[in-house]
Amino acid sequence: MSEGAAKKEEKPRKFQAIRGTRDLLPPETALWNRVEQTGREVFATFGFGEIRFPIFEWTELFARSIGADTDVVSKEMYLLARQHDNEASFDLARRRESLMFRAVSSSDKSGIDSFIQEIGKFCSDYEAALSKELVYGDVGTKVVLGYLKDSIAYLSSDILQQARAADWQERFDRTVALCRQYLDMVDATSALRPEGTASVCRAYIEHNMQQLPQPVKLYYMGPMFRRERPQKGRYRQFYQIGAEVLGGSDAPAIDAEVIELVMTFFEKLELQGVQLSVNSIGCRECRPKYVELLRAELLKVKDKIGPDSQRRIDTNPLRVLDSKVKEEQAIIEKLPRIGDHLCKECTDHYAAVKRELDLRGVKYRENWRLVRGLDYYMRTTFEITAQGLGSQDAVCGGGRYDGLVELLGGPPTKGIGFAIGEDRLILSLQESGKAPVAQGRDVYIAWMGEIARATAVRAAKALRNAGFSVELPPVEQKFGKALGQADKLGAKYALILGDNEVTSGEWTLKTLADGSQAKFTEPDLLEHLRKQKKL
Ligand code: HAM
Repeated sequence: MSEGAAKKEEKPRKFQAIRGTRDLLPPETALWNRVEQTGREVFATFGFGEIRFPIFEWTELFARSIGADTDVVSKEMYLLARQHDNEASFDLARRRESLMFRAVSSSDKSGIDSFIQEIGKFCSDYEAALSKELVYGDVGTKVVLGYLKDSIAYLSSDILQQARAADWQERFDRTVALCRQYLDMVDATSALRPEGTASVCRAYIEHNMQQLPQPVKLYYMGPMFRRERPQKGRYRQFYQIGAEVLGGSDAPAIDAEVIELVMTFFEKLELQGVQLSVNSIGCRECRPKYVELLRAELLKVKDKIGPDSQRRIDTNPLRVLDSKVKEEQAIIEKLPRIGDHLCKECTDHYAAVKRELDLRGVKYRENWRLVRGLDYYMRTTFEITAQGLGSQDAVCGGGRYDGLVELLGGPPTKGIGFAIGEDRLILSLQESGKAPVAQGRDVYIAWMGEIARATAVRAAKALRNAGFSVELPPVEQKFGKALGQADKLGAKYALILGDNEVTSGEWTLKTLADGSQAKFTEPDLLEHLRKQKKL
């Protein structure tokens, strides 16, 4: 058999959506639209405007904001790699990333030396790979490699030789920052967005939004991507409805109003079993001291906790508080609580947030173990759960992130926001029977005969213009079949147009629920349907 014939014989592959992704179909999409429409209305009443930002951004934006050691960044990000198709380019990409995120301190001479040496070696290896066409590159790549070499030459000569120059620390910092920037430019990778806060902060800086009246209030809706293990309520492409308040003050009333906004939205949707948990995780002043205390306490019980929590003692002890491992619960309950170790400002801020929530009639529970999985948070954190979701029951998460805009190179800026998991929100609405039933057509036009056909087309146009949902069969059908079809589509009325109706100008309207029939002229029919729709 020829190759072509064999191909023809082959059964075509049946494609399925990639694991963790799915199609959303009617009638469910009607519920999605209703949720989003309600969201838009609520956001507008609180003075929020919509922002739409790209689906992919520089990887480093997420690494810096969310934290390089978090699960979201270190394990779950979809990187859009440009050139990892051979060993050499893979190795260069790995070295580039490690150099980019390396902490270099001006007081660590050997650290600086190895930074310089490794960048030097990286540049020469990159040039060799370019000449062998193992990596993609253009004139720009060569220029950037040149800048990088100049920068390390400057680092090794000027700064270290003239260590006593008054502004040497400043020059050192600036040069290291430039090295990072050039490393980024050599082959910057991008990634599918795992969340929206980082992008909103990036956009705030990029468009000088600090010059607008503060605070700037923005909301967004759209798909996010995380390579997590799929299960009920957890997808690799999922949808968030989020909001961020940037700039202005960090008044506790802002925290409370942001929370009130989500709760109002959920109330409008009649979401069931809504539970709000709040906490304060302190600030740059008090949290590090608490973390050290927690670490010390955790070390004392190290052999009683599981491997994940053991690892977190080193990397991020706060995340141990998140642990769902049954055996660890009693131990965690005895650990020191952050509420007892907040500085005065944070204690006052937290107390005021709670008062402001009371003022708004927002019911909450305090949960001292609510720490959230992203690094940018400080002070207020909150999470909302809802009914019918199983283990993935967090339908919304958020908190305050003062300092994030600054971390991304912008001016000192206050920030707070949240994101709702729309998939989970929909799931919970469906499970509690709050999903609206599918809307059928208003009118099915049952026509027969060539003369009636022209009238049917005209009637469809007039009815649609008046806002009715109309099904116009493309080919002639016997009336019996047409009425059966109208029934299946859940139509409320069948408009019957045969030769008689066309010549007499009196159209027959059949109400499908009770089988009753009445005759109308065209203008009367429109009027009648309008009245019925309003009832
Ligand atoms: P997050 O807690 O990572 O926070 O996500 C917010 C919500 O997105 C979660 O509560 C959950 O409902 C939903 N979600 C997260 N991952 C998945 C998934 N794999 N499948 C389905 N739903 C998921 C953030 O993303 C922050 N940016 C929120 C924020 C905004 N904080 C301040 N501003």
